[in-house]
Amino acid sequence: MHILSLVLLVASVLKVSSAAISCNATNPCPIDTPCCDQYGLCGVGSFCLAGCNPLWSYNMSACMPQPICKNSNTSFTKTNQFLSEDDYYGDASQSDWTYQGTILEYDDSIILAMTESASSTVVSSTRFIWYGHIDARIKSSHLAGVVTAFILFSNVQDEVDYENVGVDLYKWQTNYYYQGILNWTHSKNITTTDSTFDNYHVLGIDWTEDRLQWIVNGEVGRTLYKNETWNATSQSYYYPQTPSRIQISLWAGGASKDIGTVDWAGGAIDWSAPDLTDPGYYYAFIDSANITCYDPPSGTKQSGTNAYIYTGTTGNQSDVEITDDKTWIGSTNATGFNPQNSGNTSNITLTKSSDGSTPTGLGTGGHADGDDGEADSNNDGTTYTYTGSGFIQFASSTSSAFNVSNLASVRVDASNLFNVISLAAVVIATMVLM
Ligand SMILES: *[C@@H]1O[C@H](CO)[C@@H](O)[C@H](O)[C@H]1NC(C)=O
Ligand SMILES: *[C@@H]1O[C@H](CO)[C@@H](O)[C@H](O)[C@H]1NC(C)=O
Ligand SMILES: *[C@@H]1O[C@H](CO)[C@@H](O)[C@H](O)[C@H]1NC(C)=O
Ligand SMILES: *[C@@H]1O[C@H](CO)[C@@H](O)[C@H](O)[C@H]1NC(C)=O
Ligand SMILES: *[C@@H]1O[C@H](CO)[C@@H](O)[C@H](O)[C@H]1NC(C)=O
Ligand SMILES: *[C@@H]1O[C@H](CO)[C@@H](O)[C@H](O)[C@H]1NC(C)=O
Ligand SMILES: *[C@@H]1O[C@H](CO)[C@@H](O)[C@H](O)[C@H]1NC(C)=O
Ligand SMILES: *[C@@H]1O[C@H](CO)[C@@H](O)[C@H](O)[C@H]1NC(C)=O
Ligand SMILES: *[C@@H]1O[C@H](CO)[C@@H](O)[C@H](O)[C@H]1NC(C)=O
Ligand SMILES: *[C@@H]1O[C@H](CO)[C@@H](O)[C@H](O)[C@H]1NC(C)=O
Ligand SMILES: *[C@@H]1O[C@H](CO)[C@@H](O)[C@H](O)[C@H]1NC(C)=O
Ligand SMILES: *[C@@H]1O[C@H](CO)[C@@H](O)[C@H](O)[C@H]1NC(C)=O
Repeated sequence: MHILSLVLLVASVLKVSSAAISCNATNPCPIDTPCCDQYGLCGVGSFCLAGCNPLWSYNMSACMPQPICKNSNTSFTKTNQFLSEDDYYGDASQSDWTYQGTILEYDDSIILAMTESASSTVVSSTRFIWYGHIDARIKSSHLAGVVTAFILFSNVQDEVDYENVGVDLYKWQTNYYYQGILNWTHSKNITTTDSTFDNYHVLGIDWTEDRLQWIVNGEVGRTLYKNETWNATSQSYYYPQTPSRIQISLWAGGASKDIGTVDWAGGAIDWSAPDLTDPGYYYAFIDSANITCYDPPSGTKQSGTNAYIYTGTTGNQSDVEITDDKTWIGSTNATGFNPQNSGNTSNITLTKSSDGSTPTGLGTGGHADGDDGEADSNNDGTTYTYTGSGFIQFASSTSSAFNVSNLASVRVDASNLFNVISLAAVVIATMVLM
């Protein structure tokens, strides 16, 4: 499963104000909302931070530079070790981690919580890693439809995954993606000897420019060599190779109305399971995360030590440079063109955009639900359509009702690269989650 679209859409909703413009490889963002975020929406402010895709934005300089890797060993014990993503504007010196959703303190560790009304929680590193070793000590949640994930995700949508589906507590599923291309066939399971719910496992990712290893409790469970990923047609390695941040999440795969996604997640989620009474939510534990940075690839252009930027349009590692650029914005309407960060780096004072609209909570109001074929239920002029990149996107049209048959036909028209049904299924699942 490509978890990104499922996990993080809830989060994206928080920062979308009104009718947003969609973006993709062939339709980059317009100049006044130049940043294409990871969900394929154009915007300013937080749209230009982590997840901003330089290949789909107005141009290469719309997205803010990303905070560089730094070695750290973090024992998670207090919720104040995490900054709300809503209060984070790119200054990694403020916090190593952010959160969206519900986090709680328990027994010298941190709980990621999930209820029906708050159906995903994700914590993210503020810093990016461009090759390195990450160990995260995690206890999964459990039961049908409940997914616990630990991933690396880059701005050009390279992805490395660990996922547990709560119906099988003796497996971590591993997967990887290159530039958001949805090829589902690369999944492999690592079997554990003890329960992922009852016991902590140290999930390790050892990532170099030549190979990726998934390591559970110190034992290598999977190795992927870059040379195995060569695509002769496109003359590229389909290998995760760009600076990525760490994300650990709990989400409701089984809340989908789509049978494929529900099946993958182990069945429909039960919102009246005993956990929902005591303690009142589904839960996963994170205990610690340690990061060791490796050197950038030899030959990398390096004019500083603070940030990663993209300097070319291929989105592969040869287009990444290390600079001294600032990574933070000084206003919610700033962009890479005018980051408004010429003052102090230590204390960011945010200026609300003039219409006060960014970021506001579409998430709490109505939404173009999609699950029941409803279009534009909050009358904000925004409906959804699917445009073929694997991500739900906004369209400014108010006329085209979102429904399953539209979706399927869009999918068929857009591409025959992938299994139409399963991909459409994921999209529907995403809509339901929102
Ligand atoms: C991107 O566009 C902005 C705004 O027009 C401009 O200031 C900047 O120089 C451009 N950057 C590149 C790399 O073309
Ligand atoms: C993290 O801990 C390891 C031992 O587990 C140690 O080798 C490493 O130096 C520590 N890193 C930092 C940044 O403290
Ligand atoms: C992180 O490093 C510390 C030592 O600094 C160690 O106690 C802890 O177990 C490590 N955590 C993981 C997940 O490896
Ligand atoms: C991995 O395990 C899951 C859950 O047990 C199973 O449904 C899936 O088919 C397995 N995947 C592979 C690639 O073996
Ligand atoms: C890939 O590289 C590894 C390590 O260098 C090597 O053992 C393997 O034979 C290579 N595989 C291919 C398909 O070239
Ligand atoms: C290789 O790239 C081509 C062109 O981009 C694409 O059509 C094809 O599906 C890719 N093959 C694999 C194995 O990913
Ligand atoms: C980088 O991308 C370009 C264009 O897609 C491609 O020609 C080149 O082979 C890629 N390099 C690597 C190392 O994948
Ligand atoms: C930065 O903050 C310090 C302390 O508040 C202040 O003295 C200084 O003038 C500020 N510098 C700028 C450029 O705003
Ligand atoms: C930044 O804010 C903190 C906490 O409010 C304060 O202690 C510190 O002096 C401020 N630094 C600057 C440079 O203004
Ligand atoms: C952001 O809004 C402020 C206050 O309304 C304004 O002064 C500033 O020019 C705006 N910046 C951009 C990049 O639009
Ligand atoms: C990009 O978006 C446009 C407009 O939404 C759509 O027509 C086009 O098919 C999309 N292209 C890709 C490659 O997804
Ligand atoms: C997906 O990847 C597999 C193995 O790398 C390849 O054989 C297959 O052609 C790819 N599928 C598509 C649709 O590109």
